[in-house]
Order: sequence, then C-alpha cells, then structure tokens
Amino acid sequence: MSKATGVFRPNGFVIAIDGPSGAGKSTITKLLAERLGYLHIDTGAMFRAIALAVKRAGISLDDEEGLARISRGVSIAFERTNGCCRVLANGEDVSAAIRTPEISQLTSLVSSKKVVRDQLLTLQRELGRDGGVILEGRDIGTVVFPNAEVKFFLSASAEERGKRRFLELQAKGERITLAETIAAVIKRDDQDAQREHAPLCKADDAIAIDSTGLSIKEVLAGMEQIVRDRLKVAGDRR
Ligand code: DC
Repeated sequence: MSKATGVFRPNGFVIAIDGPSGAGKSTITKLLAERLGYLHIDTGAMFRAIALAVKRAGISLDDEEGLARISRGVSIAFERTNGCCRVLANGEDVSAAIRTPEISQLTSLVSSKKVVRDQLLTLQRELGRDGGVILEGRDIGTVVFPNAEVKFFLSASAEERGKRRFLELQAKGERITLAETIAAVIKRDDQDAQREHAPLCKADDAIAIDSTGLSIKEVLAGMEQIVRDRLKVAGDRR
C-alpha cells in the first residue's frame, strides 16, 4: 500500500512527468526509469502512432467516427531491446515515422479530440495500474493519474526547447531551420495548452522544474533524489 495515496500498487510508485515539447521529458524519463528499474511509458508516442494512422487512412479531423475507429483499431506496443525502445503500431515499427515535424504537428491536433483521448486514457491507466512506472506526457498528473505518488512538471524556455529539437531533427537529416523549429514548438505548445480536453497544464501538486541552462545530469540528479526521498517515506525501497 502506498502511504502517499492509499492506493495499492504492487510494483511501486506511479511517477508522472508532464511538460511542453522539447523540455527533455523523454531523455529524463528514460534515464530515471533505468535508475529506478521502472517502466518508461511515452504517452506522446501513443498519440503520435494514432496520428500516423489517421494520416495514412486519410481521415479528416472533423470525422469523429473515423477518428474513433482508427483509435480503436491501432494496437500500440513498446518493444524494449538493448536499451532502445521501439514503438509498434499493429506490429509495425513506426519509431522513426512518428517523429517527423509533420506528424508532430498533426499529433497535436489529433490529440485534442476527445474520442482519441478517451481511447488512450483507458490504455494508459491499464499500463500504469500496478505501479513501477514513469509516464511522460501532458496530462498524466492532472487526468490520467491524478493520484500519482510523484508528479513533475518539466519545462524550459521556448528558445532552448526549440534549439534542442532543432539539433535532434538536424541529426536525422530533416531540412528545417532553427527559427522554423522554435516557431513550431511554440505553436504546438499553444495548441496543447489551449485545447478543451486535458490541456497541458501543471497539476497543483506537481513539482515544477525549469531545465533552462541545466544539464541532463543535473536535472536527473534532482528528480531522482526527490523520488528516492518519497520512496523512503513510503517505506518502499524498490
Ligand atoms: O511528447 P510528444 O511531443 O511526443 O507529444 C506529441 C503530442 O501529443 C503533443 O503535441 C501533445 C500530445 N500529447 C497529449 O496530448 N497528451 C499526452 N499525454 C502526451 C502527448
């Protein structure tokens, strides 16, 4: 039984890491999960897999029925081999296809639809139910697991987040400028924060971390310490 929430989770805590794009959530979540021996669940990748399927099927964003059908029909799985996590959609490895700027932008729109969110909400809650997981996303601490034992809200300035994303895209050979990348990051944040359903926002009880000017190592060390302190208090030394 977790003393933090009164919820029994056999495998340990549920840790929520929310925040805007490019704040370092994926890198930090992966490393923190490795340190704690927890499962890393990238909920953004789940929305991206649905967006890719929507694009391929040529479904309009106004077609609620079509969006519901696609959301129900895509089976999403994470495959972990040699420390690398691949995203499978109906068995196909879509890890690279879901990370293009076009799919990033489409995902932000697709994820604003309630039919899509409802479908993934059930799946995300199932994946995290037994604890021992870190989920990263936009609404984990507010909607998916409002009773998560630890919640972080990770952010950084738009310029720094844009720069990080630009370097990632450049390394993949994408033809995009720094200014375009920063503009795309800001646009996506606005869409994610202004939407009606489960918008990007900090939970009242989330710990805010601004990673601007900090190294991954520094951010990670601070977050790990907070989690270990809470595990100690909860008497759970997993
Ligand atoms: O974390 P990411 O950049 O891979 O997320 C892609 C999009 O998915 C993001 O623009 C908003 C959406 N998303 C969401 O609405 N809720 C989540 N829990 C995770 C992502």
